[in-house]
Amino acid sequence: MSDPLLEVRDLRTWFFRRDGLSRAVDGVSFDVAEGETVGIVGESGCGKSVTALSLLGLHPSPPGRVMEGSSVRLRGEELVGADPSRLREIRGRDVGMIFQEPAAALDPVRPVRVQVAEALVVHGRGSWRAALPRSDELLAEVGLGDVARVGRAYPHQLSGGMCQRAMIAMAVACEPALLIADEPTTALDATVQGQILDLLGGLRARRRMSMLLITHDLGVVAEMCDRVLVMYAGRIVETGTVDQLLDDPRHPYTVGLLDSLPDAGHAGGRLRPIGGSVPPSTAWPTGCRFRDRCPHAMPRCRSEPDLAVPGEGRHVRCWLAETPSGGAGA
Ligand SMILES: Nc1ncnc2c1ncn2[C@@H]1O[C@H](COP(=O)(O)OP(=O)(O)O)[C@@H](O)[C@H]1O
Ligand SMILES: [Mg+2]
Repeated sequence: MSDPLLEVRDLRTWFFRRDGLSRAVDGVSFDVAEGETVGIVGESGCGKSVTALSLLGLHPSPPGRVMEGSSVRLRGEELVGADPSRLREIRGRDVGMIFQEPAAALDPVRPVRVQVAEALVVHGRGSWRAALPRSDELLAEVGLGDVARVGRAYPHQLSGGMCQRAMIAMAVACEPALLIADEPTTALDATVQGQILDLLGGLRARRRMSMLLITHDLGVVAEMCDRVLVMYAGRIVETGTVDQLLDDPRHPYTVGLLDSLPDAGHAGGRLRPIGGSVPPSTAWPTGCRFRDRCPHAMPRCRSEPDLAVPGEGRHVRCWLAETPSGGAGA
């Protein structure tokens, strides 16, 4: 078996803030294989975005710092502590990124066509003269086919969905092996969300790209992902294939996320949100970080079981999942 494209081991990104030490990402390990789409789900404030940003050194620093012992390898190359110029080379060329607010990521004073072309030029994929027509092709590929109008337009003249399409064109311009997408559809209308997911699915298949797809929306995960990491309070609490997680969730947090879905099928169609809320990242509970919100909490949960380093297979950071009868979901 070939090595994974991306290997993350014990990633810890902490923020040294005036109000205390925030262990926003606190020992996260996972792999992304070639061609695989891995989802990261969890409520807001659990460290999903900081995880994504710190993979390529984009976390705000200071106050953030990727701590000693963290490792992020892309095709075997260590990125933690890598030269900033090397990271800039990798960003946009080997790894593309898209974010929740496309309009904020685009330059407001330059036409979209020029921005897509620039992504090619800065990574040595040809002269401006060659890059501009290629930019038009890329814009057409992401559904902005009316290039004469859209390509020469400025971001403020485009809808949110069109801006996200333009961002996607920039992100995939250099044919990256991995696309990191952080809540790519969260800011968009429901119908547009579906179109953008279809676009990403099509690009991924045509280019055999791997994806790391971050979302708080389990529906998006079900549609797009092969494997899922469930993140709570700076840690991964459960991993598995999409089918394993949706059909047989084992961690009470995963069970709670599924129960709070609109189509979870409860009598009367009522949603059951998880009680309580994510604590501030400066004050994660000791032991199992979910224990104050967990319907199954017991004294043992003052200490937390380990999560084996996730390669294949499923892992659950819960004592209940260790019992022979399994399943914390009963
Ligand atoms: N720039 C920052 N400065 C200080 N703390 C931050 C910063 N960014 C994120 N954090 C802390 O990290 C936690 C996790 O944030 P984030 O990764 O954005 O969560 P998610 O994407 O899962 O909603 C936040 O709740 C916050 O406490
Ligand atoms: Mg986020």
